[in-house]
Amino acid sequence: MVLILLGPPGAGKGTQAVALADELDLVQISTGDILREAVRSGSELGKKANSYLEQGLLVPDPIMLDLIEEELKLHAPDTGVILDGFPRTLAQAEGLTGLLARLGMNVDAVVSIEIDDATLVKRLSARRSCPQCGAVYNLVTNPPSTDSTCDRCGHHLIQRDDDHVDTVRERLRVYHTQTEPVVDYYRERSLLKEVDGTGTPQEVWERIVKILSKQDNG
Ligand code: AP5
Repeated sequence: MVLILLGPPGAGKGTQAVALADELDLVQISTGDILREAVRSGSELGKKANSYLEQGLLVPDPIMLDLIEEELKLHAPDTGVILDGFPRTLAQAEGLTGLLARLGMNVDAVVSIEIDDATLVKRLSARRSCPQCGAVYNLVTNPPSTDSTCDRCGHHLIQRDDDHVDTVRERLRVYHTQTEPVVDYYRERSLLKEVDGTGTPQEVWERIVKILSKQDNG
């Protein structure tokens, strides 16, 4: 199975992808997480991607298509995957369609999490992440037991560099101009399921599971 999660920055793609991967026994491929890890490790990919991430801009399509090809070849033949944060441009969507065809696969469903910009800005300014184990918290809606320490592994929590308000606004602008056409691309191919991203993570999760099970039952 190839499931795509779309949605603006802070819509809850990562939060939902972790839960869905667990429930549906899929591998989560988060392009944002892979790029941040590459920056931290100082790899060639990280050196190329760093300035784009810092500015809230998209990493160029050829780099992203190479990255996703590698990930799909690694995981997709053995298990299903959830793509979290990919594709983000029409060129990436078209490249993915071609790549999957070459691997004898196709996209099964695309879930787009819909939510307004003002809520996203508030959510992202309160997000804290664990650089060690990847756990994600929110100081307002899902706080850790202490403001600065990961409940899971005890590491010091950080605010992502691109979660400062000016960069968040730039990421939203990029989403509306470059990624919204991807939503239309999948709508035109009757693969799109739109889900209301307001309410608690549990409520959003229930909406996604319901909409996906409707698809399974025809
Ligand atoms: P990426 O890491 O993918 O960032 P993003 O798409 O901007 O999404 P986020 O991770 O910010 O948010 P999310 O939707 O996962 O929300 P989350 O669950 O964390 O990409 C980062 C950068 O990498 C890009 O800017 C770009 O430079 C580059 N990049 C990545 N992919 C690329 C590609 N394909 N092409 C080119 N460049 C690429 O939730 C957010 C917060 O809200 C958390 O605090 C969470 O606890 C909280 N929360 C979640 N759900 C709820 C809820 N229902 N109610 C209340 N709070 C909630």
